[in-house]
Order: sequence, then structure tokens, then C-alpha cells
Amino acid sequence: MNNFDEYLMNYVASFKDNLIKEAMIYSLDGGKRFRPNVLFSIIKGCGLEENDAYPAALAIEFIQSYSLIHDDLPGMDNDDYRRGKLSCHKRFGEDIAILTGDALLTHAFECISNSNYDDKLKVNLINILVKYAGLEGMIYGQLLDVTANTNINKEQLFEIHDNKTGGLFKYACLAAMYIASSKLDIEIDYNYYEALGSKMGIIFQSQDDLFDIIKTENETGKSNSDSRNQKITALSFMSVDELKEHIDFLFKDIKNYLSKANFDTKYLLEILERMQNR
Ligand code: IPE
Ligand code: IPE
Ligand code: MG
Ligand code: MG
Ligand code: MG
Repeated sequence: MNNFDEYLMNYVASFKDNLIKEAMIYSLDGGKRFRPNVLFSIIKGCGLEENDAYPAALAIEFIQSYSLIHDDLPGMDNDDYRRGKLSCHKRFGEDIAILTGDALLTHAFECISNSNYDDKLKVNLINILVKYAGLEGMIYGQLLDVTANTNINKEQLFEIHDNKTGGLFKYACLAAMYIASSKLDIEIDYNYYEALGSKMGIIFQSQDDLFDIIKTENETGKSNSDSRNQKITALSFMSVDELKEHIDFLFKDIKNYLSKANFDTKYLLEILERMQNR
């Protein structure tokens, strides 16, 4: 277990023992932690310590895990496997899965409000968490995703990706800058970091759509259900080879964009490398 995972599990261990706590621990386990790592890599690039970002990163991972529990429910994607094991509702039942998602979402805010960040930073972080996880971000993307019909065009699909997946990446990038600017004399170029998160989200979801088709469920650790659910994905507009090429182009574009960053990008480039080789 790395330090962040230890911090995460210790946080949950402090809750009163009950079935939801058990389901939380079960569901949090096994995530790749890409979004926290994006946050850490920017923080380190600003010259701060990774653990300066733990409370803000824990909030993302709680929201990420809740969103996946709910995304897998029969009323959404109806998926039986997640993070290499049975999805939360398959293991604990739908009632407990819904409540576990609710609990993770609720306590995400406590991760920030109970932290030792100063009050101004807490408010800034909570505001961006609401913005990018809520109805102007991830939830809006999920709404577009579940109501998309076959008439949508490529731009509309990328709007779905930008919101449902870009939301938490935007939060990660902006949270890093808010934390850094609370400790250092750094200016936040809000639009730059929002666009950086957006680019990451679109790359990440494009890869996810690709892997749903080209990887086995053993490899992805989850149900590959896009075809069964007749989802509109990047592969509705491109062949596998075209999508691979498009993803390569998106990685080149984001690396070029990073050359204009006001922090040392070497750690974030490492994460992008890991993303590209996944
Ligand atoms: C899954 O995200 C949901 C998408 C936005 C594609 P991840 O692939 O990061 O899932 P975990 O957190 O590692 O399980
Ligand atoms: C879900 O997208 C993104 C979320 C905001 C949860 P998907 O439905 O493609 O994610 P997976 O493939 O189930 O992980
Ligand atoms: Mg989905
Ligand atoms: Mg899904
Ligand atoms: Mg998917």
C-alpha cells in the first residue's frame, strides 16, 4: 500500500463499523488513482509535498468511487464487475450500493472541511468540487450519456466526455493550483488549468471507450458493456485504428500544451506516460 492509500484507508477506518463502511472499503480498493496522481504531480511540480494534497485528493477518490458504484447500477450501465471484482450492488445488493455511493459523496466534503487547510482554501476547494462533480460537470455528463441517442455528432460525444470524465480531472488540476497558491506566490490561470483537465478527461474517456472493445474484461477489471448497452462511444465515429491514431494526436497536443505551464511538468509528464502506456 502506498502512502495515499494508507491515508485513504485510515480515514475510512475511523467510521463506525457497519455494512456501508464495509462496502466503502470494498469499493475504494483497487482503483488506479489516476486523478489523485494528477493532483500530486502538479503539486510536486510546484515544489510542494504530495501529502499537502491528500485531503483534496481523498475527496476526488471518494467521488470517483461513488460515481462508479452508481454508474454500475442496473438503472445505469448494469455492470457486474468493477475494479477486478463484483460491482458493489452485486456484492452487497442495490440498496446498500446506493447508500454507499451516497455516503462517499457526502463524506467527500468532510475530507476537505475537516482538513488543516485554511478556511479560504477549503471554500475554494469545495466550490470547485461542487462545480465539476455536480450538474455543471460529471453529473451533467452522465445525464448526457444516459440520454444520448444515435443522432448525436462527434462534437456532442466529446461534450459528454468533457463533462462526465473531464469534470474530475478539471477539479484535480484546479485543486492543485488552489493548494499551491495558498502556500506560494503563484497566480492561478483558471482557464489554463480547466482546459488541461478537459484535455486529460477527453483522452482518458477516449481510451476507456477503446479498451471496452480491444481489451478483455480480465484486463480492464470491469464489465465491458458498451456494445450490450448500445452506447454511443468514440468508436461510433471512428474505427479502432483511427481512434488509436486520434488518441496519439491528443497526447501530442496535451504535451505541447504543457510546455506553457507555470510549474515543473516532469511529474505530470510521467503520469501522462503511464496513461499512454496503459
Ligand atoms: C473509470 O475510471 C471511469 C471512467 C471515467 C472511464 P478509471 O479507469 O480511472 O477507474 P478506476 O478508478 O481506476 O477504477
Ligand atoms: C462513466 O463512464 C464515467 C463516470 C463518470 C462514472 P463509463 O460508464 O464509460 O465508465 P466505465 O467504463 O463503466 O468505467
Ligand atoms: Mg456509464
Ligand atoms: Mg459504466
Ligand atoms: Mg467505459
